[in-house]
Amino acid sequence: MQTVVSGIRPTGNLHLGNYFGAIRNFVRMQESNHCYFFIADYHSLTTHPTPADLHGNIRMVLSEFLASGLDPEKATLYVQSDLPEVAELYLLLNMNAYLGELMRCTSFKEKARTQPENVNAGLLTYPSLMAADIIIHKAHFVPVGKDQEQHLEMTRTFAKRFNRMYGVEYFPEPQAYNFGDALVKIPGLDGTGKMGKSEGEGNAIFLADPPEVIRKKVMRAVTDAGPQAGQEKSQAVENLFTLLKVMSKQETVDFFEDQYLKGSIRYGDLKKQLAEDIIAYTAPIREKILAIAGDDAYLASVTRLGADRARESASRTIREVREIIGFKAF
Ligand code: TYM
Repeated sequence: MQTVVSGIRPTGNLHLGNYFGAIRNFVRMQESNHCYFFIADYHSLTTHPTPADLHGNIRMVLSEFLASGLDPEKATLYVQSDLPEVAELYLLLNMNAYLGELMRCTSFKEKARTQPENVNAGLLTYPSLMAADIIIHKAHFVPVGKDQEQHLEMTRTFAKRFNRMYGVEYFPEPQAYNFGDALVKIPGLDGTGKMGKSEGEGNAIFLADPPEVIRKKVMRAVTDAGPQAGQEKSQAVENLFTLLKVMSKQETVDFFEDQYLKGSIRYGDLKKQLAEDIIAYTAPIREKILAIAGDDAYLASVTRLGADRARESASRTIREVREIIGFKAF
């Protein structure tokens, strides 16, 4: 059986990018693997949430995990900060993580550019914390979206470096994974890049959005002036088609592709259909989120069970790593 690990930062509600890049894979993989899925709350501290926001966000993401079909009996579901072993492995990995490679990381450069007032050490060492999350359970596969590819490459670098340094074959080299397919990037509605929480109001559709909000956001999505003979689709329209491919039936996609080719497409019709298909998909999940988020007793039992199981695996790794490094009892 393969070991699978992945996490999501609690920075607000989960959107369709998180769902199709990560969660849907979690749900599929839990059936036949050893799975550890966690809420990356240590990671979220890089942006300095208030204590109330932090707790509320963790509750939300946990409820969204469960509402999406993650089963705490099949997969180990836990909160990252319930595992102090992760912080220890992070410290140990940082001793062999070099400033140059950390500074070259795309996500660090991006953050340093967009938030120059808060370029903290946690941001710089984000990849070593992420590597600690993954290799603490000696993972083989990490279901993530395309944006995490470089972080996975760094995880492999740190794992290999540890093995080489101590002459052991201890950590496997984990691979980024998308169920039977290439890693995905779900686009947002603003006509530019990926769907993301920080990409501006209206760009992301959240699993917990009510139908009227979904309709409003989709109807406002950026398009263009219409098909131009002999020209490729604009980025904005390409994005809408990508969403349609993910959310709608093949015949719906074929219908609008055909209309586009003929030059008779009405973007308003495409958007209406897309909005209804998104609503059909998310409405049952949303209902469950609302029911679960208020159930403190259930959430407490899930996190307790998850922490116990995850710590069993993590403490074994830490014990062995300490031994390999040379921390030995007298
Ligand atoms: P985060 O919290 O930004 O995103 C969680 C997951 O959602 C995926 N994702 C997307 N996939 C496709 N299209 C999109 N538009 C899109 N937006 C987000 C991300 O690829 C990710 O899989 N560093 C991680 C969290 C993390 C982690 C880990 C992941 C911490 N430790 C260990 C895996 C293993 C992050 O910030 O993801």
